[in-house]
Amino acid sequence: MTNPPSDSGSFLHGFWYVAAVTRDIHRGKTVHRTLLGEPILIGRDNRGDVFALKDTCPHRGTLLSRGIFDGETVECPYHGWRFATSGKCVAIPSQKEGQRPQAVDIRARSYPVRESEGIIWVFMGGNKPSEDLPDVPGVPEISHRFQLHLHRTFNCNIDLAITGLMDPAHGAFVHASSIWRGHRDVRDKEKAFSPAPLGWRMDRHIASGNARAYRLFLGGAPETEITYTLPGIRVEHATTGKATYCGLTACTPIDANTTDVHHVMYWDIPGGPVLRGLVRVFAKRFLDQDANAVLDMRDGQAFNPKTMLVEDADTQIRWYYRLKKEWQQAQADQRPLKNPIEPQTLRWRS
Ligand code: FES
Ligand SMILES: [Fe+2]
Repeated sequence: MTNPPSDSGSFLHGFWYVAAVTRDIHRGKTVHRTLLGEPILIGRDNRGDVFALKDTCPHRGTLLSRGIFDGETVECPYHGWRFATSGKCVAIPSQKEGQRPQAVDIRARSYPVRESEGIIWVFMGGNKPSEDLPDVPGVPEISHRFQLHLHRTFNCNIDLAITGLMDPAHGAFVHASSIWRGHRDVRDKEKAFSPAPLGWRMDRHIASGNARAYRLFLGGAPETEITYTLPGIRVEHATTGKATYCGLTACTPIDANTTDVHHVMYWDIPGGPVLRGLVRVFAKRFLDQDANAVLDMRDGQAFNPKTMLVEDADTQIRWYYRLKKEWQQAQADQRPLKNPIEPQTLRWRS
């Protein structure tokens, strides 16, 4: 038993983060987001392309997202400096010819952005040339079947949010329900794990007996596989052969004490809006239960109690901290990450 590390809340740079979903960013409009403590304007131009700029005017810092966007340029509401979606300044109305600076001398910072499978990702950290950027985290197989996006802001640091979501032993207490699992109904679990790029994988296995929700939803006992990767992304893929479900949960730190949790779901089961509505109700309840559980923990941990990580139920939480530390060290040493996780079987009751 050990104490969890105490570097809670430090941001990981060098990753794609979920900033929004496709349907939230409309053509000719911009929105403000805060990611990793940085103000970011996200917009969609007239051609339909998404872009991201630092949301503070290089002149005096006004939020650019409060200005006017005509589908091509963003105009600062204070003195009307205008910026192309690339960040290039194209007009400074107050300047007479020959005065400095001129528009060509000015740039608003732009961020790499990708739109894929209904999700808008922003790359945080570094000025990497776009050919050196990693791929955005992918959703396998049925990714074009975007069905649902749920979002909830957790008022805690990213470590608490992530470890709260990956914790395998809270289900029978936090998510107990008369429909799919009884309160305190815990059973033996044994799962094989292997390393995955930037994380680990719970190997493909038949969903266990008390995962009744799955059986109801997919109409049988599915095989499921779950992958966790830095900086805080969980991808679950479940299939019965006939029906497939895929869920992507992504934690995006807003600031040291606030984390956005996005849950995006894909499936290929007939059921249309009715099924979507039903799943939304249950998934929202799940997410709310997780958020409340994590906030109870946050409130307790505010007193700096001595805490522990037990075998094997808390092993994945230990892996998360180990990976995070290794990433930070690898960044400092300017070398690739050496995944510290070995293939192994974990056993617990949940
Ligand atoms: S603050 Fe933006 S133009 Fe002056
Ligand atoms: Fe949970």
